[in-house]
Amino acid sequence: MSESENEIVTLTHRLLDSISSGDWATYAELCDPSLSAIESEAPGQVVVGLDFHKFYFDLGGVRGRHRTTMTGTSVRLMGEGAVITYARLVQRVDGDGKPITATSMETRVWQKREGKWKHVHFHRTPM
Ligand code: GLY
Repeated sequence: MSESENEIVTLTHRLLDSISSGDWATYAELCDPSLSAIESEAPGQVVVGLDFHKFYFDLGGVRGRHRTTMTGTSVRLMGEGAVITYARLVQRVDGDGKPITATSMETRVWQKREGKWKHVHFHRTPM
C-alpha cells in the first residue's frame, strides 16, 4: 500500500475507534459537517449532517471490553478523493459475559480539503 493509502486506513481506523469509544470530538474532527450516510439506523433514508450521529455518541460508546478490526481492506485513491471498503468486526462481551462479534460491510469516502482528509460519505450494511 502507498503512504496515502495507509493514511486513509489509519484515519478510518481512528474514526471507527472514535465510534466504539463514544469519542464525539474525534469523530466530528474527522467528518465534514455535510457527511452523507446510508446505514441501518436510518432505514430507507440518506442522512445528511452530523446531528443524527451525535445522538448515538450521547448514549455512550460500546460498553465493556471491545475491539474493532478491519479486514479485506481496499483503498482507491482518486486525486483529492479516496474510497475505502472493508468488513468491520466489532468484538465485545454481552450481558452474560459471552464474547460476540458484530460484522458489517462498509464503504467510506474521504475528500482532501485544504490539505486535510475529511470523511464525506459512508454506506454500512450489517451482516
Ligand atoms: N454511525 C456513524 C458512522 O458509522 O460513521
